[in-house]
Amino acid sequence: MIIDQVNRDRIPRHVAVIMDGNGRWAELHGNDRIYGHRQGVDAVRSIVEGAGEIGIEYLTLYAFSTENWNRPKEEVDALMSLLVDAIVQEIDNLNEKNVRMRVVGNIFCFPDQVQVKLSEAIESTSANTGLNLVLALSYSGRWEILEAVRKIVRDAQEGVISEEDINDKTFVNYLSSFEIPDPELLIRTSGEFRISNFLLWQIAYSEFYFTPILWPDFRKENLYEAIVDFQGRERRFGKTSEQIRS
Ligand code: IPE
Ligand code: IPE
Ligand code: MG
Repeated sequence: MIIDQVNRDRIPRHVAVIMDGNGRWAELHGNDRIYGHRQGVDAVRSIVEGAGEIGIEYLTLYAFSTENWNRPKEEVDALMSLLVDAIVQEIDNLNEKNVRMRVVGNIFCFPDQVQVKLSEAIESTSANTGLNLVLALSYSGRWEILEAVRKIVRDAQEGVISEEDINDKTFVNYLSSFEIPDPELLIRTSGEFRISNFLLWQIAYSEFYFTPILWPDFRKENLYEAIVDFQGRERRFGKTSEQIRS
């Protein structure tokens, strides 16, 4: 079994996933795009479980991008109600699995009911100590970086931070993902080879894993395959292979 090939001593702390291909999956199955999104929830359940089982600390799922607001209204509305339904439906399961849910993104853009359900889920799971499930909602990397810059300017004007204090470490404190380590591994499904404005700052040294599997077909075994592949790579961070091995 693929899980037996996973080296438990080298589990990435943080895995981020661009869950793509719901629409194409639905089309392949002769159904509408919404049906594909609905099926995508099964994939989420499977990898949340799988990530918890092998001890991943943070799993960030790109569920709705800033750019996704530009989709047809019916699809956006359907995604919103699916989000509410999925949260309500999964909350007991998350608590049972000791999963703590968090959100990154501009959630103030969401309808009130969605915001309320999100807050309830965050609150209800806040004492859990297992996997941190981070949902990226109305999120984009550029939005996040610009928000950080605005906050830094405000702090600078108030004398809280000075120009010399701005570096890699202090900048991170202004990102919405500030206490979350950078993802070691980034997975994108559906055979697309792009970032689509996901964690732009945080992926500076992430390993990328692309798979043709469409999101609704993705299961924890596919997550384990990605991790096994990741574990076979040498991460050099600018150094030479010799330096890494010595
Ligand atoms: C990903 O699937 C889900 C969201 C972006 C919300 P898509 O809806 O992008 O599916 P494709 O890419 O059209 O197949
Ligand atoms: C990226 O998928 C966003 C999410 C998975 C939520 P898209 O399907 O929106 O990306 P593009 O537009 O094809 O790059
Ligand atoms: Mg897509």
